[in-house]
Amino acid sequence: MGLNGEFMKKRVTKAIFPVAGLGTRFLPATKSIPKEIMTLVDRPLIQYAIDEARAAGIKEFIFVTSRGKSALEDYFDHSPELETALRKKGKEDLLQALKTTNMDSGAIAYLRQHRPLGLGHAVWCARRLLADEPFAVILPDDVIAAETPCLQQMVEAHAETGGNMVAAMEVPSDKASAYGILDIKEDMGSVVSVKGMVEKPPMGKQPSNLAVIGRYILTPNIMNNLHRIKTGAGGEVQLTDAIAQEIEVSGNVYGFRFRGQRFDCGSKAGFLQATVAFGLAREELRDEFSQYLDEMMATQNAAQ
Ligand code: G1P
Repeated sequence: MGLNGEFMKKRVTKAIFPVAGLGTRFLPATKSIPKEIMTLVDRPLIQYAIDEARAAGIKEFIFVTSRGKSALEDYFDHSPELETALRKKGKEDLLQALKTTNMDSGAIAYLRQHRPLGLGHAVWCARRLLADEPFAVILPDDVIAAETPCLQQMVEAHAETGGNMVAAMEVPSDKASAYGILDIKEDMGSVVSVKGMVEKPPMGKQPSNLAVIGRYILTPNIMNNLHRIKTGAGGEVQLTDAIAQEIEVSGNVYGFRFRGQRFDCGSKAGFLQATVAFGLAREELRDEFSQYLDEMMATQNAAQ
């Protein structure tokens, strides 16, 4: 059994959350709040990411932050005054909601990316917190609604393949240059093996329409690649490039077409779409909210 076969047997228990970005697309809101704290209905983006990680069996959470992100650290802390007040009022449901924001002591680590050198660099910042084990990376901007949470689907698929795996989704040709794009070696349906990966290919030059979405299960050697790698697309250290190097080394790189709907919450349109979808998914809001949307659409159509 080769190197990847050995990693295959190790469980994925650590996840890196790169949350150092400035969130300039959401200014002025992100002047004083991290974009990961922006809420879909009543839960911040980061909560969706953490819940997904927990469902996939992640036990240790590594946040790569930057200046101005302390609200994220507070969010995952206990809030004794609030908890006491809610307990006195018998608000069990709200206490339960708060509980999901708490972490076991030592389960969460924060470290800073001191300079904005790219996603690959942010992941590399966490290298000393990892042992010789596969690890996950979750980009909280990519929110995925799915019956079985996306990372859990990937952990299951990864148990079969080993190696490096990225979440993947078909995107329209004119959007491909906004993503990492896979060059497909063999298409096996939900799993594809990959013979190349290119970060943000120029318009019309993409090897396929299969894009990388922000969920990764990676082998430790990715950190060695990141250590040596030069800057790539956009003058940044790209995670895509470090994974692409593994194709030459082990040939063991896969895309995984997840079952679910992905929202690009790094864009305003995507964020609004997610708000509608998650609003409609909530039983207590569904009737009133869908009635409002119907009325809105009817008024708009009548005006046209
Ligand atoms: C990052 C990755 C890219 C991936 C995308 C998914 O890009 O570098 O490969 O396709 O996330 O959301 P970003 O959106 O940070 O520019």
